[in-house]
Amino acid sequence: VPAAAVEALREAGAAVHPGPEALATAQDRLAEKTLFRELGIPTAAFATVDDQDSLNAALADVGVPAILKTRRLGYDGKGQARIDEPREAHEAFASLGSGEVPLLLEARVPFRRELSLLGVRGVDGEVRTYPLVQNEHREGILRLSLAPAAGIDAGLQAAAEALGGRLLERLDYVGVLAVELFEVDGELWANELAPRVHNSGHWTIEGAQTSQFENHLRAVLGLPLGSTAARGHAAMVNLIGDVPGRETPLGVDGAHLHLYGKTGRAGRKVGHVTVVCDDAAATAASVERLRDVLG
Ligand SMILES: Nc1ncnc2c1ncn2[C@@H]1O[C@H](COP(=O)(O)OP(=O)(O)OP(=O)(O)O)[C@@H](O)[C@H]1O
Ligand SMILES: [Mg+2]
Repeated sequence: VPAAAVEALREAGAAVHPGPEALATAQDRLAEKTLFRELGIPTAAFATVDDQDSLNAALADVGVPAILKTRRLGYDGKGQARIDEPREAHEAFASLGSGEVPLLLEARVPFRRELSLLGVRGVDGEVRTYPLVQNEHREGILRLSLAPAAGIDAGLQAAAEALGGRLLERLDYVGVLAVELFEVDGELWANELAPRVHNSGHWTIEGAQTSQFENHLRAVLGLPLGSTAARGHAAMVNLIGDVPGRETPLGVDGAHLHLYGKTGRAGRKVGHVTVVCDDAAATAASVERLRDVLG
């Protein structure tokens, strides 16, 4: 959704949530990273790239390993090229249009794991956050989310809530916001924002007292927010590529199937399965079983 269209709606007197500032920020990796810096939230070193000269300057500045990304319209790792050695930079630059669209070079973050924070803010400014989620990506695509993430102490959860709260306040945000995070030496670095319900929050449909979708609607409608507490231990497995038969995942303990009605295609998210069990070991066993049956 173009932020300008939302701005025009707001000027015409409509209530639009989240507002144009949030959309404009999340749609441009430069604006996003600049906001993280302004709020004192750690993020990867970055530099803009528009032509060969700025590519060389950015490489000198950011170093390798790095990732070159389009500033806008990236998803599922699309619009990205990894650079392990400086000599690979030219090919990466060419693969993203040689400066046809604005680019950003980011240092590769040596993270221990990826986490995400889902927060929701109401019209009255009330904020609630879900327990931190642990995410596994492969080829730039989210494969698995575990919620609550294992081994999160109260300090890390509080740090996540503090940075999420700062972002929600600054953007005067209403609705669900996802913050993708890297855990680095016990610290949280922000990767990107999603100004909406997020794939790493799909587990909340069965795994939380109130789903992210319900809380988003409650927020934008000015209704009281619902509890974000987890019920048990959830795992969300994305179905990518082929559409499985319904009976295949449903035979697994604790599994719930969501198909999106899409046609199967390599690299495409066609649905997800959420497993919810009372303890983490049972959830892990069901995820193993799911992997077996899904192949
Ligand atoms: N600077 C980085 N350092 C290390 N890994 C990274 C970095 N940037 C991206 N990645 C990896 O690539 C994945 C996808 O990158 P990112 O979230 O920036 O892109 P996206 O295509 O917008 O993804 P999404 O599907 O979340 O919209 C990340 O979740 C992470 O695994
Ligand atoms: Mg991402």
